[in-house]
Amino acid sequence: MTVAASGKLRQVAYDILNEQTRLLSWQQGGKVPQEQFDSWLAEAEGLYSIGNIKVDEAFLAKAPKLKVIAQASVGYDNIDIAACSAHGIAVGNTPGVLVDAVADLAYGLILDSARSIARGWRHVESGKWGERKGLGFGVDLAGKTLGIVGLGDIGSAVVPRAQASKMKVIYHNRHRRADEAALGISYAGFDDLLQTADFVLVTVNLTPATAGMFNEEAFAKMKPTARFINISRGRVVETQALYEALRSGQIAYAAIDVVEPEPLPGDHPLLTLSNITVTPHIAASTVETRDAMAKLAAANILAGLAGYPLPAQVKI
Ligand code: DGY
Repeated sequence: MTVAASGKLRQVAYDILNEQTRLLSWQQGGKVPQEQFDSWLAEAEGLYSIGNIKVDEAFLAKAPKLKVIAQASVGYDNIDIAACSAHGIAVGNTPGVLVDAVADLAYGLILDSARSIARGWRHVESGKWGERKGLGFGVDLAGKTLGIVGLGDIGSAVVPRAQASKMKVIYHNRHRRADEAALGISYAGFDDLLQTADFVLVTVNLTPATAGMFNEEAFAKMKPTARFINISRGRVVETQALYEALRSGQIAYAAIDVVEPEPLPGDHPLLTLSNITVTPHIAASTVETRDAMAKLAAANILAGLAGYPLPAQVKI
């Protein structure tokens, strides 16, 4: 069975797949040349996707033998699931194994947005230790309200982290959670959450319903002291609206791990602002988590090639 990879595999996935399949992967790093990749796709029964490719009808036309796609991330917005299903191709992702790593970074960005960790470092780095001007004071987390938009596994894992800092947690979700009392959280409508929360954390999946949900109207409902944190996908936010909200003081701060576009060009207007922290989509990037994601993606491939249900299969 032949498996093609769209980028460099972690060693753990490389070892598993190289032993059990004919593995075509670009281990030297960087982007596999398109012509090379297209020739691999023509033969591949399995595809290991690092998320840097768009899988749509045009892509699938180049890969007529595909049986399974393993996306090495929890998000799979780069893949047209309906098209894969129509071609009988199973799609797997990597939920669960990255929850703690992503929740840790979300909490870290909440803390950064309150206490200016990144800004403080920039201040010191530029030789301004003694000048408080321009840095100002932070705000306490204790007693503040965190509003989580999209309470899945990752959002739920942020709850105890925030509660450890004595924050009150409210959430908005498509479905109300039966365990909200046990979690010590309460439900709010989307507008209520925006108007009430001191910190707004976005953990929704990117879908047609959530694309652009943080627009000018949404930012206008937030408090001028609100901090906005995004660890979901950049396209959930209208970047220009975020820029304007920060520039005009409509909201106080943003700390984001994802942005549209990615990579964010070095001369992007967002980077001219002093009230933003941007990290380069690293929420799941710990050694342990990346290895666990790679192993799960490899297991998804092997199951799909054998015609079994995938350990983590994306439902239509
Ligand atoms: C995911 O798994 O979707 C993360 O965003 C990857 O970093």
